[in-house]
Amino acid sequence: MNKNAMFRATALALVALSATYSIADDNVFKIGLILPMTGQQASTGRQIEAAARLYMAQNGDTVAGKKIQLIVKDDTTIPDVTKRLAQELVVNEKVNVLAGFGITPSALATAPIATQSKTPMVVMAAATSSITQASPYIVRTSFTLAQAAVAMGDWAPKNGIKKVVTLVSDYGPGIDAEKYFIERLLLNGGQVTESLRVPMRSPDFAPFLQKVRDQKPDALFVFVPSGAGAAVMKQFLERGMDKAGIKLIGTGDVTDDDQLNDMGDGALNVVTSHHYSAAHPSAMNKKFVEAFQKANKGMRPNFMAVGGYDGMRVIYEALRASKGLGAGDGLLASMKGQIFESPRGPMFIDSQTRDVVHNIYLRKVQRQDGHLHNVEFEAIKDVKDPGKHK
Ligand code: DHB
Repeated sequence: MNKNAMFRATALALVALSATYSIADDNVFKIGLILPMTGQQASTGRQIEAAARLYMAQNGDTVAGKKIQLIVKDDTTIPDVTKRLAQELVVNEKVNVLAGFGITPSALATAPIATQSKTPMVVMAAATSSITQASPYIVRTSFTLAQAAVAMGDWAPKNGIKKVVTLVSDYGPGIDAEKYFIERLLLNGGQVTESLRVPMRSPDFAPFLQKVRDQKPDALFVFVPSGAGAAVMKQFLERGMDKAGIKLIGTGDVTDDDQLNDMGDGALNVVTSHHYSAAHPSAMNKKFVEAFQKANKGMRPNFMAVGGYDGMRVIYEALRASKGLGAGDGLLASMKGQIFESPRGPMFIDSQTRDVVHNIYLRKVQRQDGHLHNVEFEAIKDVKDPGKHK
């Protein structure tokens, strides 16, 4: 090889190397944000990315002398992809935190990587109770279905709803929602005549809804993941279930703020239980919603956005408190026990469980300023995840 060729080969090798391994820079703090930006849960990714960027725009990109770098990756709503991306982010990019996780299977698939690499993993969306037990490095800023479902299981039978059919997405969060709702409903003297489960991927609700209509329960309790609520509402109304005297109730995922305003008047008066409504009447939330809409062509933030926004808060404040000392373990320690006001209301990261403690609200769909909103009418304060005490 002549000198020139050798030089070229070395240069090429160096380029290849730097493309794969970024050189660790002590002044940069990297957040690997893995989200479903395409696929069935794309709205979750869109909401969380927008919220994370808003948080950074409002709070600057330098914390404790370090420059915050957000690296967004699309897992296409496929858990194996989430896991591979997490591995690459940890090994090649040397990220300080993993964050995002749109669905439960994605969070569970990634948990071992967080444990092995001692990288804090902030779950901003996925909501099955067991997730925080899958790794001691997981901290959650979203919610759990058990928290929301218990509130509905208490409210419904006290409000004339005794006979219920449940309809849930057949995976982690749906199974939690079904279990905790039914447990509470029965405790309160209610009755479940049938429990239906629909596939998580590309569900067809029609045959299930027909069955429910024939049974004529007082209400149909629904959990579907964010983004699927509008389809349920449409088919529920098309089958005239409301006219047949069947109420639609559920966790707030079904009246998702991302879609609610386009659901039409048929959604009016639907009661759900959840931790966040874009109509939450606090000064902080009003500011959050306004800024979010301004930065995103009028898009209304939903509960996914608030999980992302609060997740960024937890990361920023942990970095500030630990000053980057103690690496992953130091950062994790500073995430635990954080207590602050979120757009959802007061919020706390339980040091023992690393899970979110917050209010769960009962809400009714109403028109406010011409738009359909989940209007909160009752708050259950400081709800811990009931799924941790079994
Ligand atoms: C999960 C996903 C959702 O979109 C949602 O609304 C609740 C839970 C999940 O997969 O954990």
